[in-house]
Amino acid sequence: MTLRLQYIYTFYETKFWENIVSNFDPGLEAAAAQISRAREDKALRPSIAGFFDEATNTISYVVHDPKSGEAAIIDSVLDYEAASGRTSNGSADRIIEYTKSNNLKVMWLIETHAHADHISAAPYLQEKLGGKLAIGRGIILVQDVFGKLFNAGSDFECDGSQFDKLFDDGETFRLGELEGIALHVPGHTPADMAFIIGDAAFVGDTIFMPDFGTARADFPGGDARQLFQSIRRLLSLPGETRLFLCHDYKAPGRDEYAWETTVKQQREGNVHVKDGTTEDEFVAMRTARDKGLSMPNLIMPSVQVNIRGGRLPLPEANGVSYIKIPVNAV
Ligand SMILES: [Fe+2]
Repeated sequence: MTLRLQYIYTFYETKFWENIVSNFDPGLEAAAAQISRAREDKALRPSIAGFFDEATNTISYVVHDPKSGEAAIIDSVLDYEAASGRTSNGSADRIIEYTKSNNLKVMWLIETHAHADHISAAPYLQEKLGGKLAIGRGIILVQDVFGKLFNAGSDFECDGSQFDKLFDDGETFRLGELEGIALHVPGHTPADMAFIIGDAAFVGDTIFMPDFGTARADFPGGDARQLFQSIRRLLSLPGETRLFLCHDYKAPGRDEYAWETTVKQQREGNVHVKDGTTEDEFVAMRTARDKGLSMPNLIMPSVQVNIRGGRLPLPEANGVSYIKIPVNAV
């Protein structure tokens, strides 16, 4: 081989291996393999119940292994009336009733991210049902940003210690006989995770129903480019993967709320990210659209409480907890 040919060969061989290494996504590969196993064997698929909260357009899920009865509760909602500052447990109690009537053993209370539109009921559910409170490790970043915004004080540790478990990208877990895996899907916030149990992916605020599109990316720490990459990563999963969404707002022309779709349906028809949409097109669309959105009504109470694992700020000397509102800071 001449020196020149040797050089070209080495160059392309190096590029080949670089491409292999850069495109290799072990978490995604493991998730795809898990989903394929579950599609082949019904016993590896979970039973799923969705609970829609009309006040915040949130869907909470109870996911369980039919064989063992082991269950995970994903993205629960604590009812909160902003005008009076009153909390109540109607939504959480519906979930408790369901778990009890189906004899489920709650193992996990999972948050896909620190929500900005509702307060989590996870601590209340944990007190009543047990289970470990889990979120993605990126919560530490979110705690840092919002801890400063709310001037949270020395009683608030920005280390994720308010949760029992911080999941890393590609980390696996079990729910009875079922396999689970967590994928880091930042963009909406830095902490967003998708939790895949059997063949069902709980994708949090990444993608919505195909006719509605995608989540916003303009909160502190949000990034439209990252959101696009996270969504395309999720849409690389097998076409028959069941996707369960965190919110639905009924797209124009649709009368019913909906929250279940598939990778195939999203790739074929999502109005923001269907196959063929480029990253730049998405970023331009998402950025323009986000500029027209107002902040969610409950963002201040929600974030403030959710970065504390859903616990209210410590009571002051009079025994009352207070929610702060930073003025002219966001
Ligand atoms: Fe969200």
